[in-house]
Amino acid sequence: MVGYAFMGAAHSQAWRTVNRVYDLPARARMALICGRDTAKVADAADRLGWDAYTTDWRDLINSDDIDVVDICTPGDSHAEIALAALAAGKHVLCEKPLANTVAEARAMTAAADAARATGVRSMCGFNYRRVPAVTMMRQMVADGRLGVIRHVRAVYLQDWIVDPQFPLVWRLQKDRAGSGALGDIGAHIIDLTQFVTGQRISGVSAVTETFVKERPLPAGSSGLAATVDGGSSADGNGTGPVTVDDAAVFVARLDGGALATYEASRFATGRKNALRVEINGSLGSVVFDLERLNELEFYDATRPTVEQGFNRILVTEGEHPYMSAWWPPGHIIGYEHSFTHEMRDFIEAVATGVDPTPSFADALQVQLVLDAVARSAELGSSWTEVAPALTAAAV
Ligand SMILES: NC(=O)c1ccc[n+]([C@@H]2O[C@H](COP(=O)([O-])OP(=O)(O)OC[C@H]3O[C@@H](n4cnc5c(N)ncnc54)[C@H](O)[C@@H]3O)[C@@H](O)[C@H]2O)c1
Repeated sequence: MVGYAFMGAAHSQAWRTVNRVYDLPARARMALICGRDTAKVADAADRLGWDAYTTDWRDLINSDDIDVVDICTPGDSHAEIALAALAAGKHVLCEKPLANTVAEARAMTAAADAARATGVRSMCGFNYRRVPAVTMMRQMVADGRLGVIRHVRAVYLQDWIVDPQFPLVWRLQKDRAGSGALGDIGAHIIDLTQFVTGQRISGVSAVTETFVKERPLPAGSSGLAATVDGGSSADGNGTGPVTVDDAAVFVARLDGGALATYEASRFATGRKNALRVEINGSLGSVVFDLERLNELEFYDATRPTVEQGFNRILVTEGEHPYMSAWWPPGHIIGYEHSFTHEMRDFIEAVATGVDPTPSFADALQVQLVLDAVARSAELGSSWTEVAPALTAAAV
């Protein structure tokens, strides 16, 4: 694994747990973790349960006894690490968004397609697909329970940078993060809604805004090339420009005919990590809210009129996706379980020789939507088609 902070900890929890919860055709061994600071990565290896540590990610690529590379770093290093890992025949799990640019995502997808021919697998970490209630939503749509999908309404709202004194961390720098709220949390609701509906976004009209354009440099930084990760205090050493969006709002058409609205913001005061999706179809509606992730709200318009209403389904039965390995019905699960489910599906696919999803090609398509949103916003919200996801190999 490369990176040991937020996603590094979440993925480590999942790698530690997955062998013990699910009966899998192969066991994960947590061999080697990489970070740039020796003392911190040594501590992380001990705390998170890794056998060894290194300060150079190339050591993972060059180790013969490593089969899988898990990339949990900011977007500016995804492409370089993934391309090297795939070239060395390692299976790759890469955090979202796949890359910082469409060009990088295309190169990664082409490399993944070439590697597939030799049995090397790759996957992007859109973990919310693996919340059981979300997986179930997709099954309900596929089973026709909602009829023809007319509307998709998706928001992902946070508030961690409302304070203008919050420092200029990597997530606020375009060269490190690619974009702001758009690629960080907007990417999740783009992937989630496309996954659930089976429809792809074909075009968008967008507005984006950077409300606070200048912020204090983070503690430990020595200038605009600040590389402090997740630092939450300023060091009184000047300010720098915020080069990403604070919020992105867009309307979209889906290729199956649905109209959709999306809102991703880091300025939704009071909203900590509020991901909510509502889908309206000709036969019913379904609602998912991450703050109540064990539940779905389902309105079944085929029931007798006098019985119609939004019903709460508690998604904790053994028959529900992923749930048979956990607890008795009603004993709820949490955020971290989505990552355990991600590792389960990844290990099973790698060990049985099939392609896990979402593939790099799926993640490239999300990147193309992000790009269309950014271009539309630059062009005064003009209608912008999502470019076709031809890989470099196919061009
Ligand atoms: N799936 C999710 O829900 C989710 C949530 C948060 C972040 N993410 C994604 O995960 C990735 C990492 O985000 P995070 O929140 O964990 O960031 P973070 O700042 O918490 O951690 C980044 C880690 O990468 C390490 N790192 C950076 N550059 C490195 C390099 N060149 N070599 C080795 N290590 C390096 C840092 O030391 C740190 O350990 C991003 O792509 C982000 O979009 C996904």
